[in-house]
Amino acid sequence: MSNTDKVKNLIELREKTKLGGGEKRIEAQYKKGKHTARERIDILLDEGSFEEYDMFVQHRSHDFGMENEQYLGDGVVTGHGTIDGRVVYIFAQDFTVFGGSLSETHAKKICKIMDQALKVGAPVIGINDSGGARIQEGVNSLAAYAEIFQRNIMASGVIPQLSAIFGPCAGGAVYSPALTDLVIMSDKTSYMFVTGPKVTKTVTGEVISTEDLGGAHVHASKSGVAHFVAEDEEEGLLIIRKLISYLPQNNLEDPVITECFDPIDRLDDDLNEIIPDNPAHPYNIKDVIFSIVDDSEFLEIHRDFARNIIVGFAKFNGRPTGIVANQPNYLAGVLDIDASRKAARFVRFCDAFNVPIVTLVDVPGFLPGSAQEYGGIIIHGAKLLFAYGEATVPKITVTLRKSYGGAHDVMGSKQLRGDLNYAWPTAEIAVMGPKGAIEVLEGKKIAEIEDVEERQKYIDAKEEEYREKFANPYEAAKYGYIDDVIEPRNTRFRIIRALQTMSTKKEMNPPKKHPNIPL
Ligand code: HXC
Repeated sequence: MSNTDKVKNLIELREKTKLGGGEKRIEAQYKKGKHTARERIDILLDEGSFEEYDMFVQHRSHDFGMENEQYLGDGVVTGHGTIDGRVVYIFAQDFTVFGGSLSETHAKKICKIMDQALKVGAPVIGINDSGGARIQEGVNSLAAYAEIFQRNIMASGVIPQLSAIFGPCAGGAVYSPALTDLVIMSDKTSYMFVTGPKVTKTVTGEVISTEDLGGAHVHASKSGVAHFVAEDEEEGLLIIRKLISYLPQNNLEDPVITECFDPIDRLDDDLNEIIPDNPAHPYNIKDVIFSIVDDSEFLEIHRDFARNIIVGFAKFNGRPTGIVANQPNYLAGVLDIDASRKAARFVRFCDAFNVPIVTLVDVPGFLPGSAQEYGGIIIHGAKLLFAYGEATVPKITVTLRKSYGGAHDVMGSKQLRGDLNYAWPTAEIAVMGPKGAIEVLEGKKIAEIEDVEERQKYIDAKEEEYREKFANPYEAAKYGYIDDVIEPRNTRFRIIRALQTMSTKKEMNPPKKHPNIPL
């Protein structure tokens, strides 16, 4: 072969790899509303930035006639590229080659980019579309999965790891995305489960569809496994680009601050009126979030899971910030098992990657009842408490209305090393609400009053007395638990100044192997 032919041959080989498992299988992929692995990468990354590795890798299996079926690249496209000019590593499974199934060599390619990402300190994005372990390779493919899991674990908290699920993800394969920071599932075209509908029926007798067992909406609303449901793959990839914009490259860097055109001292008079006079009436905390962040842009995470607490990313004067906020519009913003798990995971994620946390508090307490107690609200609530207490990033807390009992302590309180704790004049910080308190303190006396009207009068008077004493921010401010009572309309400015001031904060936890967070 002449040298010119050698170059020609390379170009031909490159073209061949792009066909994956062949045109017929690519067609089948399109019919399902899915893109090919390379198309997904092209949509995600900055134009022309992708550099592919290992496109000539082939599997080494000789069983089941596999030696006669070879595809260059072995069912996964790997490499690096940029998002808004910043380096990311990526792998995208190619369903057109053996159903994207994971062989020893397929896994080696993924491990290579993970190792490199850790070396240079850059995020890893995985696009999953796979029938799981390559059946023909038996234990080798199981071992290969474990190689990936181990790397997911080592990379956790060091570099951001994001997973898109754009097709099947079943069996043990689910555990790699589960070990990563965030999971995005495409609606209708993806599913995740440890055991599929067929085995479920055989073992338990339960008859259930793929979608109902492990579809995107199920994981976004019931299990909490998925943080986002994307309408289609384009939207899912756009979400990944956005997420990257809020995150640093690794745990030793800070998130990138961008120029902000939204005035930092913008006042919003509506906030002075947003808290209803009746403490039992709800309002939408998202109205507060949209009002105070830059350009009303808020990327909500876990939108459909535990809707009584809101978490997500926004910017304050261009500074990426995590927001945790009780949602009075849903279950009165109470803390329950799912809300505690959701917020704890988010607080730890922010802390791992140097993203400051703003907490907006309006919480009536923990949800009572046997379902919660049997489900372990003690342990799950402790997770959130632990996450706040261990976090060393700047923590700014604003109490808008209720902050009762244990939930007060949990939600970024001063004693959990809150850096700046503000309250609106409408804040009520106490052991419990007036109704509950008076029942406990005055129950016997109330029972002795026979006349119904007299009894109610007594209750009202006692509740009023309690409200006067405790249902305000000044009692807490008197002790310095609240640093300042602020005018609601000025909240944006106060948060921005607090974040700016705290940006040089240095706080270290004592050296240890790792904390023993209540799991
Ligand atoms: C090898 C596989 C494969 C696999 C699919 N294919 N899964 N090849 N190993 N695991 C191949 C098919 O033979 C087919 O090849 C092509 O991929 C497309 O598959 P289809 O079945 O035609 O596609 P579809 O109808 O869309 O169904 C997709 C599917 C189904 C639901 C994923 O293929 C399936 O059930 N696969 C097996 C899933 C499974 O049980 N995996 C093991 C899970 S346990 P051709 O040549 O016809 O195109 C696991 C353990 C991990 O993963 C352990 C980690 C600890």
